[in-house]
Amino acid sequence: MKVFFAPVRSVEGELKLPGDKSISHRAVIFSALAKGKSSIKNCLNSADVNSTIEVFRSLGAEIERNDNTVIVKGRGFKGFEAPRDFLNAGNSGTTARLIAGILAAQNFPSVIIGDASLSRRPMGRIVEPLNMMGAKIEAAEGGTLPLKIFPSDSLHAIEYLLPVASAQVKSAVLLAGLHLDEITRVIEPISTRNHTEKMLNLKVHKEEKANIIEVSSADYPEPKEYSVPSDISTAAFFIVLTLLTKNSELLIRNVLLNDTRAGVLKILERMGAVIEKSHVEELDGEMRGDLLVRSSELENVKIEADVIPNIIDEIPILSVAGLFAKGKFVIRGAQELRKKESDRIKSLCENYAKIGVEVNEFDDGFELIGEPKVKYGEFESFGDHRIAMTFAVLSMLLEEGGVVEDFECVEISNPAFIEQIQKISVA
Ligand code: S3P
Repeated sequence: MKVFFAPVRSVEGELKLPGDKSISHRAVIFSALAKGKSSIKNCLNSADVNSTIEVFRSLGAEIERNDNTVIVKGRGFKGFEAPRDFLNAGNSGTTARLIAGILAAQNFPSVIIGDASLSRRPMGRIVEPLNMMGAKIEAAEGGTLPLKIFPSDSLHAIEYLLPVASAQVKSAVLLAGLHLDEITRVIEPISTRNHTEKMLNLKVHKEEKANIIEVSSADYPEPKEYSVPSDISTAAFFIVLTLLTKNSELLIRNVLLNDTRAGVLKILERMGAVIEKSHVEELDGEMRGDLLVRSSELENVKIEADVIPNIIDEIPILSVAGLFAKGKFVIRGAQELRKKESDRIKSLCENYAKIGVEVNEFDDGFELIGEPKVKYGEFESFGDHRIAMTFAVLSMLLEEGGVVEDFECVEISNPAFIEQIQKISVA
């Protein structure tokens, strides 16, 4: 589906955005593990989270959705049923990698598959530590899906130094460790999103700069009522559109403000963005609050490599802010961007080149020089939801708008993107 985005002169009003994707996945997973009934308020209703829900239905959990509330009747410790078919993670890396840690500890075999994009993404990064724990997992040649997981009677705790700054890898190991009486330790030299630790209330301490996270069966989840804050990664698209249009003011309610996720706000503020926070509170272990965003003059700043994991999903839209800001937008140390739903470095550079922006592509990032040289843009989504929304926002900032091909992929994280834009934009 090719979608045209008309130019937006300014933004006004208020938005309540869907639940955070990372937290929604985990709330479904932990509820399915717990024995008994849990409820999840403001659970994201998108293709990715629905992949997680379908997987746990196939494993015998009862899951019902009423709008944005999800009720889960979980199975308890090692209580899942053997699935009758392959487990399909769809487009979702979080689903595939987190469930692998759980399936490694069950006493039945299973196979995880995914769509074409997920089937190209690296799975060796979870197979390796899980097999070090005694799991029996075989990836396809090249370390990709399908993953064949066999029961193992020699699963044991390990101490694992994360070789890649990935919350999904960290979580896969922690979820396997949840099934063992001994303590599994994950050492994380660079902080990545910490929802798994927070939601399971795990013991975390610092040694020098590294986080040391400990887990055992004593941390196995109980049924609970979850309340999911709105997704900061989704909010970022609306924040950047507001900042870059004149006479704009937008209130976004109940946005996740966890430190390991709010890097995009910190960078935008350093760039000169006016973003006021109010009603900030901690609920369910996660900080959240309202954001009032106003049109702002932006200037590019240096983005240090150690914050990359905390802005990894927002780099595409941050680059649009950088494109229209004073100075040159440069991002380095972001090689993980090549491992996402598309090779995001390539996807971004190709799209920017189409509108005459001078682009220098590096293995681990890119830089943008100059402003768009056209009034109207034609962009590809590369089947990647965040690329689609990034270039939708950029289209709205061009004098005559622009089109984005294959826009339907936004259903992965935010199926209502177009309606939300219509609600707040002034042509
Ligand atoms: C996620 C972790 C990140 C992020 C993804 C969601 C999670 O991936 O990009 O969108 O929910 O744990 P990596 O762990 O591969 O960096």
